[in-house]
Amino acid sequence: MPRRRKRDFLIRGFSKLLKEDKLKIVSELMDNQVEAMELMKSFWLSDKSKQKVFDEFSENTLSNFYIPYGVAPNVVVNGRTYHVPVVIEESSVVAAASSSSRFWSERGGFKARVIGVEKIGQVHFLWNGKKSKLVKVLDSLKLYLREAAMDISKNMEERGGGITDFELLDFTKKMDNYYQLKVSFNTVDSMGANFINSCLEEFASALKEFFKTHEIFSDNERECEIIMSILSNYTPNNIVKAWVECDYNDLNGIFNEMTGEQFARKFQMAVKIAETDIYRATTHNKGVFNGVDAVAIATGNDFRAIEAAGHAYATKDGSYKSLTKVFLTENKFRYELTMPMSLGTVGGLTSLHPLAKHSLEMLGNPKAKELMMIVASVGLASNFAAIRSLVTKGIQIGHMKMHLFNILNHVEATKDEKEKAIEHFVTHRVSHGAVKKFIQTLREN
Ligand code: MEV
Repeated sequence: MPRRRKRDFLIRGFSKLLKEDKLKIVSELMDNQVEAMELMKSFWLSDKSKQKVFDEFSENTLSNFYIPYGVAPNVVVNGRTYHVPVVIEESSVVAAASSSSRFWSERGGFKARVIGVEKIGQVHFLWNGKKSKLVKVLDSLKLYLREAAMDISKNMEERGGGITDFELLDFTKKMDNYYQLKVSFNTVDSMGANFINSCLEEFASALKEFFKTHEIFSDNERECEIIMSILSNYTPNNIVKAWVECDYNDLNGIFNEMTGEQFARKFQMAVKIAETDIYRATTHNKGVFNGVDAVAIATGNDFRAIEAAGHAYATKDGSYKSLTKVFLTENKFRYELTMPMSLGTVGGLTSLHPLAKHSLEMLGNPKAKELMMIVASVGLASNFAAIRSLVTKGIQIGHMKMHLFNILNHVEATKDEKEKAIEHFVTHRVSHGAVKKFIQTLREN
């Protein structure tokens, strides 16, 4: 009889416990506590100092959760070849990005360009006073704010970045007394979240001080209430563009008898559908993020920030649309991806995570702008591969072939059983049930 587990208990002071004790408590949720603890521990690194590094990336760490670290080879960007590290659990993504990258490497490769590097931070505050006064002292307020953050911004300025602009936005028509200080930053090779947030908190204190001390304000205008100070993940001027182009003739033979031009026109329709319909657009863009996130994770970047910005950007024309566009001229196919991309090659996990460091080395230690172009190219590669399959042979042939390996591992197939299954499923439809039955039959005979 399995032990009855007590699940609904509160744990006080959990973060202060030793790792072993945390593990013991959490393992009580499992059917077999001893086995569960052993399993968790089996994923600890044997090198204690390395494990400590991983433990300290986060809080309440119990173990390490492994996801495959692979490579998408032959990604040619602006004439340079990269073998790109990718961390992802969806095997078909790596296969697709690799095959698409090889395909384009024979047709001039990916071209890419960084269009802007502006990051945004906001101080949201309430103030009840005469706006005309604020406008009048705006220039001195900007100077005052710059000075207040000087200690923090000095280093960034030495690296070629810093605070680039201030804007004061009046939202009082939408919410009583609500103003916003919108600040632009250039964080050069770092993602810059800490830098931006530290500057913003400094601006917030300085703003309070400014209202208190500037002679233009009357006594009833001296108070301002800071609601919050935080960077914005929406960065519509931190943009990268990647594209591929070739003659229709170079697309001949992509699938059976289809001509290059027929393929290009069908491909264009698929992308137009993603420009028209949100259900399709979301999946279409997911295909872009399959590649983008995998490189972002491998290089220690914040893929949630990239996703958030990308999806918001996809709505910039009023409705959620594909991040890619096709252009067909008389005999040319051109396919582009334009998206925001906040990432860094210094600071944060990029230098702390030993594998992230290794990934950047694999790419030749690029600067942030170069990495933006590589990541966008892999995003375009994986999306192109998905649409190419969808408008030709369909997606499931490739997916299920990869999935077959997962199912075979799941049923603990031997090497011999695997070989027989692979041969059999060349001509048979893969499903969990069919593979299980096939292996069972093999074992019974
Ligand atoms: C699967 O991870 C991604 C796709 O669904 C993308 C697409 O439909 O374009 C294949």
